[in-house]
Amino acid sequence: MTRKWKSLIGIMLIGIMIAVVTAGCGGTKPQAKEILIGGNFEMTGGIANFGQSTANGVKLAFKEINSKGGIQGKQLKLVVADNKSEPSEAANAITKLITQDKVVAVLGPVASSNVLATVQIGKDNKTPILTATATNPKVTVGDDGKVREYVFRACFIDPFQGTVMANFAAKSLKAKTAAVYVDNSSDYSKGLAEIFEASFIKNGGKIVATEAFLQKDQDFKAALTKMKATNPDVIFIPAYYQEVGLIVKQARELGMNMPLLGTDGWDSPKLVEIAGAASLNNGFFSNHYSPEDKDPRIQKFVADYKKEYNQVPDALAALGYDAGLMIIDALKRANSTEPAKIKEALANTKNLQVVTGILTLDSKHNPVKSAAVIEMKNGKQLFKEKVNP
Ligand code: PHE
Repeated sequence: MTRKWKSLIGIMLIGIMIAVVTAGCGGTKPQAKEILIGGNFEMTGGIANFGQSTANGVKLAFKEINSKGGIQGKQLKLVVADNKSEPSEAANAITKLITQDKVVAVLGPVASSNVLATVQIGKDNKTPILTATATNPKVTVGDDGKVREYVFRACFIDPFQGTVMANFAAKSLKAKTAAVYVDNSSDYSKGLAEIFEASFIKNGGKIVATEAFLQKDQDFKAALTKMKATNPDVIFIPAYYQEVGLIVKQARELGMNMPLLGTDGWDSPKLVEIAGAASLNNGFFSNHYSPEDKDPRIQKFVADYKKEYNQVPDALAALGYDAGLMIIDALKRANSTEPAKIKEALANTKNLQVVTGILTLDSKHNPVKSAAVIEMKNGKQLFKEKVNP
């Protein structure tokens, strides 16, 4: 072998070594022809079903645009970080996505408390956060009343869905008295409890009991027994499927047969597994859409999603898909992958047709959308009514 050859091989070996070493550190390396979007999702833990559905919805939207050539010749790639359904882990996940993976925007988390744990980090790093699903008003507006420049959402907010359910209780179910069972570990639940109470009272109703629990609790019978003693016409339980499933089951075991009401956090196939189909009868909740809705756009999405995942898409999947469409639309209009430009484009989202409605963000970065009231009947979700804001 000549000296020239030996040194050439030497240089190549060094090159390979550098490549191997650098591939080991740092996160996902953006390829020149890729745009990396972070997915800060609840992939494991208490609300893993929510995170998985949302991620699936986003991936379907990305797959569709990629098959049409992507955006300005670049393929969109979702880099998922698992926040384990915990606020502190959500903060870790966004930090990793921004600093290691170098994503240009972050989708998620699902739960309001988890998003709230990330908003400051998004701001400090000037990286836009788009949550498909978090409904608490504080997600986009700080305690100082100022709109969070870098945070956006694809769903309606809790003052709307809380009012929808209070009106439903008072008008459709003719309830005069209500008990409220709140998850004190969730900003979402606490906000909804307040709104429901105010709105039910405004309708002439009376709140006869308020009890609280925490996520991961297992035994709800003591509080339920207290509520039972006040004989409420309905009980409002704005919480997530894991605890709701056990609460509904235990309430029925105690012979409490009144209507049980909830909100979007009830939407999971797991709810039926945990509570049992019979216990859920006489259960109603507000949601972002119904796969039963005959709207052709919804039916097309349901068919496409079923083809991809062999599952009926829940509201999380639909909202994940919609948030995917929103970021695609913003990237196109920004004509840039600079986070600051993406943020400007997101703020200007207008008349964007998505599965769950037509999206226009208001000055608080919230869309105005309708809600669906769902009735549980023998383990199936029946689409009862659509309520416009
Ligand atoms: N709205 C819930 C929250 O803010 C999240 C959620 C959305 C759950 C849609 C289920 C369905 O925490």
